Amino acid sequence: MLSSTAFGQTTKARAEVDYAARLKEVQANPKQLEEAMKTGRRVAGFCANCHGEGGNSTNPDIPNLAGQNPGYLLDQVRQFAEGRRKNEFMEGMIRALKPEETIGMVVFFGSQAVLPHRSGANPAQVAKGRELFSKNCFRCHGENGLGSERFARIAGQQSGYLAKTIKRYRAGSVQRSDPLMAAATSLLSDADVEALAAYVSGME
Ligand code: HEC
Ligand code: HEC
Repeated sequence: MLSSTAFGQTTKARAEVDYAARLKEVQANPKQLEEAMKTGRRVAGFCANCHGEGGNSTNPDIPNLAGQNPGYLLDQVRQFAEGRRKNEFMEGMIRALKPEETIGMVVFFGSQAVLPHRSGANPAQVAKGRELFSKNCFRCHGENGLGSERFARIAGQQSGYLAKTIKRYRAGSVQRSDPLMAAATSLLSDADVEALAAYVSGME
């Protein structure tokens, strides 16, 4: 869709690209990284309508991509492409990206700072959210919510998106499910979910 460059011009080639290996290669090579960042910046222009400039969303129901871990982003791209994670628009959008555009996109967004946003949440709710977070969520997402290559960054994520996503995991929804997240959320009440969303969206 967006243009054609270095590698994987055809659908067949795309299927054969080892994205994780290609990402490592790009990250280890300053020149390739610079190229990938350029490509990523251009791709991000198409995403800005919804995900905001530099991946800082201004819509509480649409996730930030800024500061997100490249390995996690690649995994979500794969899930959309395979239809395991469902969002009609995103599935189409992701399938239209060429491999080097995908690699560029994940390194570009991963390098963008997350802008802090003030949450209107009340302090009692935030305190409850902090307590819930420190009982469980930190084990995978890290004490500061920054995640890792394997686990999503959730610190500073949009509140409405957080609440919707956590509820989907809890319900084992068709749009999105994951065994680890199902186990981590099964005992949460709706009020717990709202408290977690209030706390996590304000983490920096
Ligand atoms: C028309 C609006 C729209 C546009 C344009 C758009 N997205 Fe999205 N995107 C969404 C929505 C809504 C979601 C959340 C889907 C859900 O609820 O699971 C999403 C989710 C994602 C996610 C998962 C984020 C996470 O935290 O798990 C990624 C990655 C993503 N989009 C990448 C992109 C890229 C790359 C582009 C540009 C090439 C793009 N999107 C363009 C609306 C959009
Ligand atoms: C045992 C590890 C583990 C624990 C504990 C855990 N998570 Fe997760 N979390 C994951 C994994 C794995 C994913 C990615 C799943 C996927 O691909 O959809 C994830 C994804 C998420 C996402 C989606 C991020 C995005 O950008 O779309 C949110 C939000 C989230 N977790 C919040 C939480 C909260 C809140 C808690 C505590 C109640 C928690 N997690 C506890 C492993 C964990």
